Amino acid sequence: MSSATIPVIAIDGPSASGKGTVAALVARALGFHYLDSGAIYRVTAHAGQRAGVSLDDESALATLARGLDLRFDGVEVFLNGEAVGDAIRTEEAGRAASKIAAMPVLRAALLERQRAFRRAPGLVTDGRDMGSVVFPDATLKIFLTASCEERAKRRYKQLIEKGFDANLAALFEDLSERDARDAARAVAPLKQSADAVLLDTTGLSIDEAVQQVLRDYRAASAV
Ligand code: CDP
Repeated sequence: MSSATIPVIAIDGPSASGKGTVAALVARALGFHYLDSGAIYRVTAHAGQRAGVSLDDESALATLARGLDLRFDGVEVFLNGEAVGDAIRTEEAGRAASKIAAMPVLRAALLERQRAFRRAPGLVTDGRDMGSVVFPDATLKIFLTASCEERAKRRYKQLIEKGFDANLAALFEDLSERDARDAARAVAPLKQSADAVLLDTTGLSIDEAVQQVLRDYRAASAV
């Protein structure tokens, strides 16, 4: 199978919209591979901080990104063979990822690495530019969102469940800021592409969102 014929479901959207959870469940339902592209930005920022590279040094970060020894196993992420899942899931790691994600040279360095995840029988991936830049020929593109209040509540619940400290008002502020930065950046800004289906999950359960994506996928692959 040439890689261009391998189906891809690209799910893009703002922070804490639930796209990662939905994407992983859709991948499981279809028996497809799953790529959490945000984790790649998070690991890159983490690796940079560990190596003492400034988060403003675009060319050093791009060089580091090209040579990153990164492996996914289910939801766990390994950097140089070490599990870094917990370290990269903090709000601070998210802010660092969002900062370096605005750098065009770094994004270009990560492009082929992301495309290599397109393997049979198919791929479900989530991020900001999966449908617009990384997999423009995706079988189905979804823009998954929810109100900022709802997303702040979901992120709060997620952090508390993991045993982290969390403050709802601070999370709301942080998400609004991150949305604004992701949407305003010059390269691969967060926005719904014309050919993406909008899925607003504000009043939906995770299962309802998953079922909707599966219905859209069946419809898209039937044409
Ligand atoms: O879960 P959350 O949306 O907060 O974070 P994430 O999806 O893990 O992504 C972390 C950051 O990486 C985001 O704030 C984006 O700035 C950036 N990102 C991106 O620019 N492009 C992607 N394809 C994925 C993430």
